Amino acid sequence: TERTYIMVKPDGVERGLVGEIIKRFENKGYQLVAIELFKAEKTILEEHYKDLSGRSFFPRLIAYMQSGPVVGMVWQGKEVVKTGRLLLGATNPLESAPGTIRGDFCVDVGQNLCHGSDSVQNAESEIKLWFPRGVTQWKRERLDSLLYE
Ligand code: GTP
Ligand code: MG
Repeated sequence: TERTYIMVKPDGVERGLVGEIIKRFENKGYQLVAIELFKAEKTILEEHYKDLSGRSFFPRLIAYMQSGPVVGMVWQGKEVVKTGRLLLGATNPLESAPGTIRGDFCVDVGQNLCHGSDSVQNAESEIKLWFPRGVTQWKRERLDSLLYE
């Protein structure tokens, strides 16, 4: 089953939007298989965002991500990587469609509420990085056996 790493960023936790974000993934039909609230470590954040290490906003991004607790989650289901990013909306909230999480709840690219993996391969790396002890193996016997491929 496809899995993705979704993280509610410090602004999302501080604003009390954890439940709202979970609700949207649950409503869509995805399955939560790991969740933890914690303060992200600098070294892990630098690994997580290593592709952006050369960008001018990188130090601000790392500081923002350490400004309070985050909620890390692993969600699974059909095409959850791509569809998860559709639920989040475009990176810049001024361009995110209404109806998406970022489109409905924020305006600042430097405080855009949530993270979602951008490929299946990066999702698996991020899941290993943030949940090194692994996640719950869970097949919904009734629902998953009825899925159309
Ligand atoms: P994530 O799901 O958080 O990975 O966002 P993304 O995949 O939509 O965008 P990307 O990976 O390119 O950037 C990661 C994060 O860096 C974004 O979500 C923003 O929080 C931040 N970021 C990206 N571009 C800018 C920028 O131009 N300025 C600032 N301040 N932050 C940015
Ligand atoms: Mg990204």
